[in-house]
Amino acid sequence: MPYLKPERPEKVNAPSLKTSKQRGERLVCLTAYDYPTARIVDEAGIDIILVGDSLGNVVLGYGNTVPVTLEEILIHLKAVRRAVQRALLVADMPYGSFHTGADDAVRNALRLVKEGGAEAVKLEGGHKRVQLVKRLVDEEIAVMGHIGLTPQSINKLGAYRVQGKTAAAARQLIDDARALEDAGAFAIVLEVVPREIAKMITESVSIPTIGIGAGVHCDIQVLVIHDMLGLSFGKLARFVRPYANLHEVMTDAVTRYADDVRSGVYPSDDESYALPAEAAEEMSISESNKDSKARKS
Ligand code: KIV
Repeated sequence: MPYLKPERPEKVNAPSLKTSKQRGERLVCLTAYDYPTARIVDEAGIDIILVGDSLGNVVLGYGNTVPVTLEEILIHLKAVRRAVQRALLVADMPYGSFHTGADDAVRNALRLVKEGGAEAVKLEGGHKRVQLVKRLVDEEIAVMGHIGLTPQSINKLGAYRVQGKTAAAARQLIDDARALEDAGAFAIVLEVVPREIAKMITESVSIPTIGIGAGVHCDIQVLVIHDMLGLSFGKLARFVRPYANLHEVMTDAVTRYADDVRSGVYPSDDESYALPAEAAEEMSISESNKDSKARKS
């Protein structure tokens, strides 16, 4: 039987994700950082669009997410906002935007919501973020948690590795998830954790889990769009399924364009404009010298 894309006309919002979990619906999340991509993703029916700080890796050319600033997130968020109609739009709070006190964090989150049009913010960390999550929720801001591999901690971690691999670390992750739920988070990203632990967390909280490298039992899956479209450089993590190779598609198009320009077959007459006959006559441009450039070459 052919796969039928589900009709999902209604606008997604933070509370509706919990209802979807209760109904056992599997939702889909992708990142986007610009207007055309966000339009395609939204029109394809993706439920959540995240302007992630992975922006730093896949768009801005930084080696990791640490240098990404609030202003950079805001520029991309505004472009995405103009494109998105149905999906829930979530903005990442970049490193440094929520580390200097709760008031600063609220101010920065409010900028993402008021200036950038985000409907929710995401921030990395478990137990240690509980007070901050409560404060943001008190200020009417919807908060998505993020535990497991937290890329903003790369300088402390030393490398991107699977998290929660010992019983103690796994228990800590489960506690973190419960604490975030109690603090008022509406969903939690689980990044690169063993699928058994992701399943336990998914079953032990009533809010949806959003897995990336966390196995099939999470309520929602997320990928960085450049990774799944073949637009990022370097080795892909094992959890990334390459759905397209746009690197190859783009290289082929750019190379053919360059070949056509160099050999003079682009642009053709159909791809350029002719001077109207009357003006050509007035300027004494005859048919014979009208295309003199073409003749000379
Ligand atoms: O920044 C990002 O894209 C993320 C996702 C990987 C969840 O945090």
